[in-house]
Amino acid sequence: MTEPAGRMKDRRVALGITGSIAAYKAIELMRMFQNEGADVRVLMTTSAVEFVGTLTLETLSHHPVDSDVLALQGDGRIGHIAAAHDVEAIVVAPATAHWLGAMANGLAGDTVTAACLAASVPVIVAPAMDGGMYAHPATQANVARLKEFGYRIVEPESGVLASGLVGQGRLAALGSIVDATVAALNGLPAATAAGGTRAGGRTVPGPTRTDMAGLRVVITAGGTAEPIDPVRFIGNRSTGKMGVAVAGNALDRGAAVTLIMGNASVEPPAGAHVVRAETAAEMQAALRALTPPAGPRFDVLIMAAAVADFRPRSPSTTKLGRSAGLTLEMDATPDLLAETSERVRASLPAGSRRPILVGFAAETGTFERVVKKLESKGVDLLVANDVAEPGSGFGTDTDRVTIYSTDMPLEELPLLPKYEVAELLLDRVLIRLENAAAKSDIPADAGAHQPAEVGQ
Ligand SMILES: Cc1cc2nc3c(=O)[nH]c(=O)nc-3n(C[C@H](O)[C@H](O)[C@H](O)COP(=O)(O)O)c2cc1C
Repeated sequence: MTEPAGRMKDRRVALGITGSIAAYKAIELMRMFQNEGADVRVLMTTSAVEFVGTLTLETLSHHPVDSDVLALQGDGRIGHIAAAHDVEAIVVAPATAHWLGAMANGLAGDTVTAACLAASVPVIVAPAMDGGMYAHPATQANVARLKEFGYRIVEPESGVLASGLVGQGRLAALGSIVDATVAALNGLPAATAAGGTRAGGRTVPGPTRTDMAGLRVVITAGGTAEPIDPVRFIGNRSTGKMGVAVAGNALDRGAAVTLIMGNASVEPPAGAHVVRAETAAEMQAALRALTPPAGPRFDVLIMAAAVADFRPRSPSTTKLGRSAGLTLEMDATPDLLAETSERVRASLPAGSRRPILVGFAAETGTFERVVKKLESKGVDLLVANDVAEPGSGFGTDTDRVTIYSTDMPLEELPLLPKYEVAELLLDRVLIRLENAAAKSDIPADAGAHQPAEVGQ
């Protein structure tokens, strides 16, 4: 994502780094702040120094790093007190479970906590840790306490863990942390910290409309990467732009969005609950965890991800050499669209309003197969696009799509920005949602605002 330049021009920010494995990302975060025009000084816990060296941070920030709460500055001032008074915001990223606990209890044993205690400026906190640690009631109580202080929490993302389950604890997308800091510096309320670049580089300070308020929308975006060995994978040209545009449009209309993000070259929109899933198997696990019967109910599912149709049968655990050549045996992957639609429909309680399911079909040259797909996948709408057409399909900012539906004649839309395609698509989804509500005995907003449950 290209950050709009200059949103933090001449603003002074302290970046507090604590002892998480994600500490290395703080270097990139500092660069992003600087690219926005900020002057950044770095505070570190002693654990954080074990993860990233002060030399890099001092060189890039052009300031000494303060990592010793007992040290005095060259001018005799106490480092953390000086920092607290010199800056306009403090960003703690990544924030460990230990640091959250120390901060919640006012224990000033490190420079980051001490500076936050001494400061009266906005504090933005981006936790990062194992999913179990984040879910623990102790951590959640500490996060709640920090919110009571008025601190802005940039929630960690979820992702499929090594166990195959989904856990929340990955440091939030750096763009979201920057957006939250910009919002804090501009005095915007914490709720709008979730606003940001939602689609196509547009900066949006929160929901702009409410026609999807109360609806829970699950979206898949990006491609998948199927490993050949630890270094190579088989992927596709999907960049995630279309799915991210749909997510951005749904957020702008007030929906609660869970975005299952595959291999993508664009940042997820601020405000989405993001679950990372790189392979078809991870995407399958995420879909199973985040939709019924194992996951919470939802209102709309939009499968915009380009999931691999084939994957190497036996990926090598070591890097393959070139000399022997390579013949790959491939297996078909599960049809996630058909599987999800069948599972979700089967799990619906009698009389309940059914969610609207939307698939995407990337075709080349002809849409002959699309009508058959509409039936076989069990979806309400199928959005077909010819990815061979210039300006349409993978990596472009525009798309020309044809919308096939089970109850209306097909609609050929002109070449449009992806965000506009998303807008028109969600208009059609809303009509079907209202029709479905009319046929059920459950009101249209039932099931809304349920938290996206994630397992560890
Ligand atoms: C390799 C490694 C990675 C760690 N990653 C995290 C992490 O991501 N989040 C976390 O809360 N703790 C993590 N820990 C544990 C913290 O480093 C430990 O609790 C430490 O006391 C935190 O100190 P601090 O909060 O003062 O920086 C990790 C420990 C190790 C050895």
